[in-house]
Amino acid sequence: MNEEASEPRHPDELAGMDPTGGLDEILIFGSPETRRYFLKQVAGTSAAIGLGPALMGIGSVEAAESTATPGVASAVVTKFQLKINGKEHILEVDPRTTLLDALREHLLLTGSKKGCDHGQCGACTVLVNGRRINSCLSLAIVHQGDEITTIEGLAKGDELHPVQAAFLEHDGFQCGYCTPGQICSAVACIAEDHTKNDAEIREWMSGNLCRCGAYPNIVAAVKEAQSKTPAKSA
Ligand code: FES
Ligand code: FES
Repeated sequence: MNEEASEPRHPDELAGMDPTGGLDEILIFGSPETRRYFLKQVAGTSAAIGLGPALMGIGSVEAAESTATPGVASAVVTKFQLKINGKEHILEVDPRTTLLDALREHLLLTGSKKGCDHGQCGACTVLVNGRRINSCLSLAIVHQGDEITTIEGLAKGDELHPVQAAFLEHDGFQCGYCTPGQICSAVACIAEDHTKNDAEIREWMSGNLCRCGAYPNIVAAVKEAQSKTPAKSA
C-alpha cells in the first residue's frame, strides 16, 4: 500500500504544500512550458479573440509599422473603389474585408444579410455583373470595376422590381431575413432562364435557405415574376 496515501498529514505540513499538487511543473504537450505558463497563454489568446485587435492594440497602423519586417510592406488599410447600385464608393479597409462586410459595416448597405458567413445559406447573395454570388465568400477588393447590385438597388425609386412585387403578392417570406438574398437570387435565376417548372426553380434557388419554410410561396413568386419578364430574344 502507498505509505503517503495512508499516513495522515499534520495541518502545518498541509499549509505549506503547493495546492496544484505540482501540476505547474508538468510539461504540457511535450513542450517545456509549465501549466501556469500554458494557462496564461490560453487566457491571452482568448482575450485577443474576444476583445478584438483594436482593444488589444494589434492591427493598428502604428502596431503594424512597429512590427513590420524590414523591406516588407505592411498592408493594413487599402484604398479602392467599388461601384454599387450604379454609384461609386471609395473604401479604405483592410484588404481582407469581405464584400458583405464592406457593404454592411462600411457602406451601411445592410439589406444584404449575414446568415452563416460560410457560404451555406445565401442570405448574403448579391449580383456582380448580373451573376449571383455569396458576398460573404468574396473579398471586396477583387470587385473593383464590377457592377455590384444589392437589394437596395433593385427598385426604381418607388417602383418595386417585379421580383420584389411578386414576393409581396405571394407572401414569399415570413421573418424576412433570407428575403433580400432570395430576391437577388431570383432575379438572376430568371435572367438565367432556369424557371421552366417548379422543380427547376427549386433546384436553381437551392443555394438560398429559408428557415421559415416559405419555399412554396417563393417558387410561386419566382414564377409570377418570370411570367412578367419579357422573353429574351434568341
Ligand atoms: S451569409 Fe453568406 S452564404 Fe450565409
Ligand atoms: S422568411 Fe424567414 S428565413 Fe426565410
